[in-house]
Amino acid sequence: MDKETAGLKELFAVERGGLVYVQQEDTPKLDTLETALNFFETSQPLFHQSDTLDEANWKLLTETLLEGYHIKSLHRESFYPFGLDNVNVVESFGQNSRVIYPFKRIEKLRFLRPDERAIEGFATLVYHLFPNVSVSVLSKHTSVTVIEPLSPSRTQMFSCYIKHVAKNGTEISHEEALRDVNFVNQSGQEEDRAAARDIQETVTTSANSHLTFGYYEKAIVSFHQQLQSELGGT
Ligand SMILES: [Fe+2]
Repeated sequence: MDKETAGLKELFAVERGGLVYVQQEDTPKLDTLETALNFFETSQPLFHQSDTLDEANWKLLTETLLEGYHIKSLHRESFYPFGLDNVNVVESFGQNSRVIYPFKRIEKLRFLRPDERAIEGFATLVYHLFPNVSVSVLSKHTSVTVIEPLSPSRTQMFSCYIKHVAKNGTEISHEEALRDVNFVNQSGQEEDRAAARDIQETVTTSANSHLTFGYYEKAIVSFHQQLQSELGGT
């Protein structure tokens, strides 16, 4: 291929902590990268990939990652037995957010000195990188998901799974990490996707003129405010 005549355009791209950030138009917004975290070390292997297709708007699928109200009702038999009812830490950093979902076993940390406490394995950390990427830090792996709109009512999600580094000298096996992936994907995530598809079926109804978000859904509110501001308030 002749690169000179193939209509290729140079794009701004930079790698930070294992993720590649690309901007297709305008001057690079370097200030938004100031809060970019070092999610990954070069020694962490990518061990699995998956993709899904849903008849739902990409924002509905994104919203399921950003609040914990629904865990008790929607994930009654999958996540809830290990988790807590609407006990989360919800924070926003510029356009991005982080929601921490503790497991019941976080109680064990209560008896350790603060400097001995490490959150890994005791909570799921979900980072929402505005607008359509999530990084979920689980016990044995971290997943990076790109929530790609194909149409207003159809979304493809691509996920990459990266294994955590050895803990106390013990390497996490491929099987162990994959078991974690399957548990998350085949239980809770399927329930979230089904809920988003159900909501999609009702969004065009004239029954509701507006939606009300709860106090602990502020990461979703921030997501929509950022979208509105990017789209010029339309
Ligand atoms: Fe969920």
